[in-house]
Amino acid sequence: MVKIFEITAAELDAVEKFADALWGKLGIDIDFTRHFLDRVNDERNGKPINAAELIRLFKKEYAEHGRNISKLSNTEAVMKDLLTNINLPFVYLDNNQDKDRLVAKTVMRKSDFKTSDPEFIVDDTEEDVLRHAENRKNIAQTLKQAGYKKIGSGIDSTVWTKDGQNVIKIVMPELSTDLKGAAGLMNDFYNFCQIHKNSPFLPKFIKFVNKELEQFSENGVDYVLIGMEKLQKLNQQSYETAFYWLLTDLVTRLSSWEQILNTLDSDKFWHNFLSTIHASVNTDNVEEKAYVFWQKLQEDYKLISKIQAFFEIMRACYEFGRSKGYAWDLHTENIMRRGRTPVIVDPWTT
Ligand SMILES: Nc1ncnc2c1ncn2[C@@H]1O[C@H](COP(=O)(O)OP(=O)(O)O)[C@@H](O)[C@H]1O
Ligand SMILES: [Mg+2]
Repeated sequence: MVKIFEITAAELDAVEKFADALWGKLGIDIDFTRHFLDRVNDERNGKPINAAELIRLFKKEYAEHGRNISKLSNTEAVMKDLLTNINLPFVYLDNNQDKDRLVAKTVMRKSDFKTSDPEFIVDDTEEDVLRHAENRKNIAQTLKQAGYKKIGSGIDSTVWTKDGQNVIKIVMPELSTDLKGAAGLMNDFYNFCQIHKNSPFLPKFIKFVNKELEQFSENGVDYVLIGMEKLQKLNQQSYETAFYWLLTDLVTRLSSWEQILNTLDSDKFWHNFLSTIHASVNTDNVEEKAYVFWQKLQEDYKLISKIQAFFEIMRACYEFGRSKGYAWDLHTENIMRRGRTPVIVDPWTT
């Protein structure tokens, strides 16, 4: 029999890549077994399971239970979505050397799935989901009609510009349940930037209607928007970017610039760095580039003091975020630039 709604291996691969990138932030590798692919397409699911439902599951589980799941050690457990009735039993494997592994053993749609293993449950009412999706559409349409173009989007926000000088960034996550946390985070980042108003490494905010940070209601749901200078993307292939990437990692372990300098002076550090970091970066030769930049840096006093100042604001940002319970999310897509100056735009996740 031909199964019309089958998820293809390629689609499943895309889901796995998405889940890997997201969960990688918690140091977790997601793997699907061969059996998983078979079971996704099993007729016993009734309504076939589709890729969007799996993405929703990995997103919501990450947002709501990611941190608790990352604390598991060599055990079995189940992800459960009460909206779609999808159950995903997995094995969690600790790996002290490298990333932990979350192996999705199987998956099934079943409304009363029973298990004695720990359950990580996510839920959402159909009504919330629909209303939020409708709002997202309406907001986008309103902006388009007012002459705005969408120039960027991430996990939580979409970014729009009209004049090419300034942007508005709206916290409009795909999942309605992420809205409150994401709006709170934007508010906290704004406050952090107010405390460090003179730092060139943070965005300059622009009044949109009355204030820089505005709240508006759509259909009874609250959204936040912020007006901001338009920034440029970092060149992902540059030596400097590779070095920033290194700093975003060091900042989680070292608190002073002196410690950074000591670390970067050590051959042992570079040796380890060059051999371990490769797997998790997609920029070509990021390690060598960071190393070359570090060599160059030592002869350029002006540049080194600029990088020091950048590190110091990054460290303050890291600590501020940590005090609010946020995870550090400063990969280089979340650093942009104003001319040649790096600017932190999106340092944390909930
Ligand atoms: N000030 C800005 N100017 C131009 N583009 C921006 C600006 N801020 C963000 N973007 C673009 O929008 C994307 C999403 O914004 P970001 O702040 O990272 O939010 P999210 O929480 O959704 O990841 C960024 O990756 C970037 O490409
Ligand atoms: Mg981002």
